[in-house]
Amino acid sequence: MECIKTRRSIRKYKEDDIPQDIIDEIIDCGRHAPSGHNKQPWSFIIVRDRNKIEKLSKIHEWAPFVANAPVCIVLCCTRTKEDYKSVMYMSVACAAQNMLLAAHALGLGSCWTHINDFDEKSVEKKVREILNVPKSIDPICMLPIGYPDQSRSAKHLKDIKDIVHFDKWKNK
Ligand SMILES: Cc1cc2nc3c(=O)[nH]c(=O)nc-3n(C[C@H](O)[C@H](O)[C@H](O)COP(=O)(O)O)c2cc1C
Repeated sequence: MECIKTRRSIRKYKEDDIPQDIIDEIIDCGRHAPSGHNKQPWSFIIVRDRNKIEKLSKIHEWAPFVANAPVCIVLCCTRTKEDYKSVMYMSVACAAQNMLLAAHALGLGSCWTHINDFDEKSVEKKVREILNVPKSIDPICMLPIGYPDQSRSAKHLKDIKDIVHFDKWKNK
């Protein structure tokens, strides 16, 4: 509970490298996520190459902080034509949330950085080119990971009474 309630997006990282066994643990937590029809439609590209991380930080205007992370994990969706696209994408999002929480529990910081474009495919295309991802695989998001170089206080949350309904939808 504490891990869930204290996690924040971290966008400033120390230079310290992260041992591979810690990254393995984060990925292991990702693959334990629930998925539609238990398809486990995720793949993970672990990026440590500085040149590639630099390029990933330039895919759109909300990604520059990625450049400072020692490791960046790109989450991809591997689905067949028969699979429901949104169900498979949501499954990858579940894996991402597990990984964000795992990173936080291990004293690391991360931040969901969006890739999946839905209609526009320009950001996805850049990621495909940088990481050699085939057309049949959809890059969904990337998680830059590093030891936090910022502390973040609790965020303002919507009031529970404004977001919860009992037995039926009630206009507020
Ligand atoms: C689907 C999704 C897409 C996001 N895309 C980005 C992004 O591209 N760049 C970024 O800096 N943060 C991104 N975020 C992080 C949000 O800005 C962040 O989760 C939100 O402000 C709440 O802050 P918190 O994570 O500290 O609780 C994204 C989060 C989600 C869930």
